[in-house]
Amino acid sequence: MNSLAVNSLNTDAHKAGERVGLRSDKIVINGGKPLIGRIKVRGAKNLATKAMVAALLAESPSTLRDVPDISDVGVVTGMLEAYGVSVTKTAEGELTFDPSNVLAAHFSKIDALAGSSRIPILFCGPLLHRLGEALIPDLGGCRIGDRPIDFHLDALRAFGAVVDKSYEGIRLTAPNGLVGADIELPYPSVGATEQVLLTAVLAKGVTELKNAAIEPEIMDLIAILQKMGAIINVEPNRVIFIEGVEKLEGYTHRALFDRNEAASWASAALATEGDIFVEGAMQAELMNFLNIFRKVGGAFDIHEDGIRFYHPGGELTPVVVETDVHPGFMTDWQQPLIVALTKAHGVSVVHETVYENRFGFTDALIEMGADIVVHKDGLESVTRRVPRRRLEQAAVITGPTPLHGADIRVPDLRGGFSHLIAALTAEGQSTISNVGIISRGYEHFIDKLDALGADFVYEG
Ligand code: EPU
Repeated sequence: MNSLAVNSLNTDAHKAGERVGLRSDKIVINGGKPLIGRIKVRGAKNLATKAMVAALLAESPSTLRDVPDISDVGVVTGMLEAYGVSVTKTAEGELTFDPSNVLAAHFSKIDALAGSSRIPILFCGPLLHRLGEALIPDLGGCRIGDRPIDFHLDALRAFGAVVDKSYEGIRLTAPNGLVGADIELPYPSVGATEQVLLTAVLAKGVTELKNAAIEPEIMDLIAILQKMGAIINVEPNRVIFIEGVEKLEGYTHRALFDRNEAASWASAALATEGDIFVEGAMQAELMNFLNIFRKVGGAFDIHEDGIRFYHPGGELTPVVVETDVHPGFMTDWQQPLIVALTKAHGVSVVHETVYENRFGFTDALIEMGADIVVHKDGLESVTRRVPRRRLEQAAVITGPTPLHGADIRVPDLRGGFSHLIAALTAEGQSTISNVGIISRGYEHFIDKLDALGADFVYEG
C-alpha cells in the first residue's frame, strides 16, 4: 500500500465528536489481489454506542471494554460530554463514564453532534429520568429509507412522556414521572426495543414489551442493565418484562464483538478469493450468515479466538436470501455478500425486508459490470418464508460477471464497504470518494486493508 495518511481515519475517535464532520476522503484501489491475512474485530458498533447511553442511567461510573475506535463512538462520546458525563480512555479500547454531574446540554452542542447518527434518540428515556426533559434534534445515520421514529415516540408517550415538536427538534418532558407501560411494537424494531429498555428500567412499576427485537446486541444490552441492577425477563415469543427499580449503579462490561464487521470481512475474503482470519468473531452470533456463506461456496474454520474465512477454490453457487430480524439473515450482511454473488454461476435473489431503500449501492456495482436488477416492490410471484412487507425490495443478481474499475461515491456505511470489496475484485483501478462514512462502523479499515495486502492509495 502507498497510503498518504493511513492513520488519519478513525484514530482516537473517542475524543469528543472529533470525527463528526466526515470529510470527503478518497481511496484509489488497484483491484485483482486476494485479501490474505489476519485482522481483529472489537465490540459491536450497535452495542457499544447503546451501552454508552446506558451509563447515563447510573449513579456511579461504568467501564466498557473492547470499544471500537469508530466515529459513531465519537458522536456518543460528544453527546455524553455535552450532558456533563466525564468520558475517560482508561486503556486501549476501554472507556470509563462518570455520570455524577449530569446537566442540561446547550442545544447547539447536541445539534452539531446528532446530525451524523441515529443514537441520540436513545438518550430520551435516560435524560427524562436524570433531568426531567430531553431535546432531540434532527437525526442522522445512513440514508437507507425513511427511518421514522414513531415507534420510539409512541413508546415514550406510553410511559407518560409529553412530546412536543419544536423548530429545533423534539422536546420531551415527564411532568408526572415515567410509569411502566404495556407496549406492543408494530415491528420488532431494534432501536425502539432499546428505547423501551433504557426507559423502563427506572420507570415506576412493570413494563411489558411485546414484539420486541431480540438481536444479540439487545441481549448484551440487557446483560449490561442487569449488571447495573435492573430486573429484566426475556420471555418466549418476543415478550420482555421489565420491573422498574429505584436506582442503577455503574457496570463493567466487555462489548459483544461486531458481527456485521466480521461478516463483511468474510464476504471480502470470498469475493477476492482470499483467506482472512477474523480474530474476535464468534460462531453463535453468525450461524445464519455462516450457512449462507457455505451454500455460496465459502469455507470457514471456527477457532477459539476467531474464525478463518476463505475461498476454497471452485465455482461459487447462487443463493436466495431473505433479510430479516434476528434470528434471520441480517439486513447489514446483504451488501458485502452481493459482491460475492456477482461471481456466482447463476441467478441469486436477495429480498430486503427490513429497510425500503437498501439497494442504492447496487448502482455502482452495475456501473462496474455487475448484472443486478432491483425490483422496487419486491417479487410478487415467489413463495417467501418471511411474510411480505410493504417495504420489500428484491435484487436479482446474475453471474458470473467480471467487474471493472470505476469512480464511485460511497452512499452509506454498509453499501460503502461493499464498494471497497467490489473495487478490490475489479480489473483495473477504482477511485472511491466519501470513504469517511465507512469509519462510522469499521474500525481502522484502512489499516486492515493494508494488513491484508490490498493495493491502494488512501488520500485522507
Ligand atoms: N421503524 C419504524 N419506526 C420506528 C423505528 C423503526 O417504522 O420508530 C422501521 C424502520 O424504518 C425499518 C425497521 O423498522 O424499516 C427496522 O428498523 P430498526 O428500528 O430495527 O433499526 P434501527 O434501530 O434504526 C439498527 C441498526 C442498523 C440495523 C438495524 C436492523 C443501530 C444504530 N442501527 O437500526 O444498523 O440495520 O438495527 O438490525 O443499531 C448499520 O449498522 O449500518 C445499521 C444501519
